[in-house]
Amino acid sequence: VVKKLAILNGDGIGPEVTAQAVKALDAIGVIYNHSFLFSEALIGNAAIAATGSAFPKNTLSTCLDCDAILFGAVGNNEENELQDVKVKARPEQGILAIRKALKLFANLRPITSYRALLHLSPLKASVVENVDILIVREAISGIYFGEKIVATASNAASDICSYDSNQIEQVTHIAFKYAQQRRKKLTLVDKANVLETSRLWRQTVKKIANEYKDVLVEYMFIDNIAVKIITSPEQFDVVLTESLFGDIISSEASLLVGSLGLLPSASIGSQIALFEPVHGTFPKAAGKDIANPIGSILSAAMALEYFGLHKEASHVKIAVEWALDNSFVTRDINSINYYFTSTLGDLIADFILGKIPDSVNPENIELRKSTII
Ligand code: IPM
Ligand code: MN
Repeated sequence: VVKKLAILNGDGIGPEVTAQAVKALDAIGVIYNHSFLFSEALIGNAAIAATGSAFPKNTLSTCLDCDAILFGAVGNNEENELQDVKVKARPEQGILAIRKALKLFANLRPITSYRALLHLSPLKASVVENVDILIVREAISGIYFGEKIVATASNAASDICSYDSNQIEQVTHIAFKYAQQRRKKLTLVDKANVLETSRLWRQTVKKIANEYKDVLVEYMFIDNIAVKIITSPEQFDVVLTESLFGDIISSEASLLVGSLGLLPSASIGSQIALFEPVHGTFPKAAGKDIANPIGSILSAAMALEYFGLHKEASHVKIAVEWALDNSFVTRDINSINYYFTSTLGDLIADFILGKIPDSVNPENIELRKSTII
């Protein structure tokens, strides 16, 4: 097949990790005889510097001309956030605006634990060994997109959280459909003991549940799942929630797999889809070739899945598991004995290309390792 992908590198480690996902896709293209055509466009700080906008018109038209988008990361250093309050354009507007413009209402964040990395979680291996959760996060409504008021004179600010049932319905159908293909359980996360919007979510989900009678539905408050997701994560299959709760719970869930750097995501809507690692820009690591490219590489695998290229998607996942099993990992996973971002990308691409035998003696790849040992 021929597929066009927009490459939006963004800020911080975005360009470095996305480059490794491109290598993996190129390798898949060679082996399965597909053409992946890439067009780069600006987003985030680079876009602000060039055009004044975090999501310029040119970038939108590049995206609309493609079958899918591979996204890096956008954002500033967290510690500088307050200083930047007065700055008009914020890099985060890049991702928020693109989700909104392309109506990417469902943000899918799979959380799967890896046997080789169980020891990395701050949680007991016995707790995390069978984790397989799909977080379905509503991504274009709610408090992120509600009216924002800054009343400088009275020193007050507000962010409105509002939902209507259509916005809830479209993402809920997606969540139920995934649940049907998985373990047939859906947990709606909300704060229905306090929030009106949460009560609307419950009511809407209850109604739609009648169309998916084979799926078991349960309801859980956000503060409760914040505990349960780390004490008994194996009980969750599909977790459906609104944008802010989904942001928080998906970062928390990264503890289950050992590193935020491993997590991929997909944002889907009615037409085009966007694929991005869950991690942010990791400014301290930018340009150092030490970031973990696996979140981005697995996001590319999700893109293949979305194209209906299932064999190809699982080939990428097998390559990633091979790397992890053989301790070909970046510094976030092993701070002493680690490989560089670009080296790991090359290794994974080489594995896909069949250039590396199934059982490998790590000594032979010693030269591609960091210089620390
Ligand atoms: C995420 C990020 C974004 C979000 C930020 C950068 C706006 O944290 O994708 O999880 O909150 O959606
Ligand atoms: Mn987040």
